[in-house]
Amino acid sequence: MIYLTRRERFSAAHRMFRPDFSDEKNAEIYGLCSNPGWHGHNYELFVTVKGEMNRELGYVINLKKLKKIIQEYVIEPLDHKNINTQVDFMKGRQASTESIAIAVWEVLEPQIRKEGVELHCVKITETENNYIEYYG
Ligand code: NI
Repeated sequence: MIYLTRRERFSAAHRMFRPDFSDEKNAEIYGLCSNPGWHGHNYELFVTVKGEMNRELGYVINLKKLKKIIQEYVIEPLDHKNINTQVDFMKGRQASTESIAIAVWEVLEPQIRKEGVELHCVKITETENNYIEYYG
């Protein structure tokens, strides 16, 4: 089994809050990420797939194809957008890194399966110090 990871980047705005909480309570729970005026992060997305190497072609998945899938289904919808209000696959979810990782998994998994490999992990870094890994 071979594991292959592709990194992509996106920048996006978000706000962590619950509409049923006051601004004060949101600030207490979510800290700076709850700023009502929004703020952004430069996210990094690592998509790891696993499969056997195609012995004739010498690869697990065509990297150009993998890049295209991630770009089309994840990066274009997210990049330079407001995650709370402008991203269809984030509707009804908290704009947390955890939620983004789960949503990205759900969007990518069927596309990657079509290529004959399995999605193994979606890792997203929100800052240099924090990252989420989701294994489905
Ligand atoms: Ni934030």
